[in-house]
Amino acid sequence: MPPFTVALMFGGRSAEHEISIISAQSIAANINPQLYSVLPIYITHKGAWLCGGVAQNILNLDLAALLRNSSIEKAQATLVSMVQQAGQNPFDLNFRAAAIDLAFLALHGSYGEDGRIQGFLDTCGIPYTGCGVLSSALTMDKALTKLCVADAGIAVAPSVTIFSADYVVEPEAIHRLIEQQVEYPFFVKPASLGSSIGITKVHHQGELQPALESACSLDWKVLIEKTIRGREIEVAVLGNEQPIASLCGEIKPGKEFYDYQDKYIFNTAQFYIPARIPVDLQEKVRTAALKAYRALGCSGMSRVDFFVDEQTDAIVLNEVNTIPGFTDISMYPRLMESIGISFPELVERLLELALKMKRP
Ligand SMILES: Nc1ncnc2c1ncn2[C@@H]1O[C@H](COP(=O)(O)OP(=O)(O)O)[C@@H](O)[C@H]1O
Ligand SMILES: [Mg+2]
Repeated sequence: MPPFTVALMFGGRSAEHEISIISAQSIAANINPQLYSVLPIYITHKGAWLCGGVAQNILNLDLAALLRNSSIEKAQATLVSMVQQAGQNPFDLNFRAAAIDLAFLALHGSYGEDGRIQGFLDTCGIPYTGCGVLSSALTMDKALTKLCVADAGIAVAPSVTIFSADYVVEPEAIHRLIEQQVEYPFFVKPASLGSSIGITKVHHQGELQPALESACSLDWKVLIEKTIRGREIEVAVLGNEQPIASLCGEIKPGKEFYDYQDKYIFNTAQFYIPARIPVDLQEKVRTAALKAYRALGCSGMSRVDFFVDEQTDAIVLNEVNTIPGFTDISMYPRLMESIGISFPELVERLLELALKMKRP
């Protein structure tokens, strides 16, 4: 019998449900069976928790092929029917009875990456991979992330934050405020979503209203951010008190910006490891990534994303992802490989860091 039982938690209520399943599949395939037995816990789109049989079947499903060959709707319908057919009762949440020692969180986006599940697990006394409550919640909010890292001396893109409730009441006043403060083209983005959902690059006045309406319908807070022209550079950071940084990776979007379709459907973006910037600049970006990780109180892991301005080489932090994509082709595990940490070793290190982390 392996000494530890790890609950692998995946699915969840966010728009990144399907990508979470694919991340969990890669993680399950790379967990050391000598040390850990895996109890899969699948959280449905609606928030029901299922473990054992149906969770294992979903983990065994070739979801990536289904997404590639049919559609997200078809994939979602397949998942729903698997749950219905299993007719299983949701998990009774008795972690102690299930003898769970720790949890591997493969949940991306809201309810997984934002501190809510972390708080719940803290309450149950179950260690878990990745960041704790505060850093998860902070980094989920792009406006608060920028405030914190700017305070630590890291540059961020100038932006205006608006509240959706105000926009509904006086859209014209908000249009004026934005046009006074940010130049076209700019980005409109919901503060707390991921996967580029609700993000629009606004080139002129005619595109402003639909962009704001869309973002405001998805989140209570919205950022309007200056466009940074340059390269998108990502750094994977791993560790608790003494974190290490990977080499810099670069993403060259297949379209005008790295949107949902480019991320998950067409896969037209190109990846470069190391990034195509001079070595001394790479070092500066890695240092900034570690500084941001510390400033935000991260633990376990995070992927820290930057822009490097094409004209000035200025390093501008974009966002921090505390549960980045974890599929075989995802940037985080590939960046770790760039410093000699293979996927199975990465999974093992994350579990060790989870067991060691003291969360007061
Ligand atoms: N200020 C900006 N300047 C230039 N491109 C941007 C800016 N903000 C976002 N983008 C583009 O939009 C993509 C998604 O934005 P991001 O803030 O990373 O949101 P998400 O959390 O959905 O990944 C980025 O990868 C980049 O291509
Ligand atoms: Mg991003």
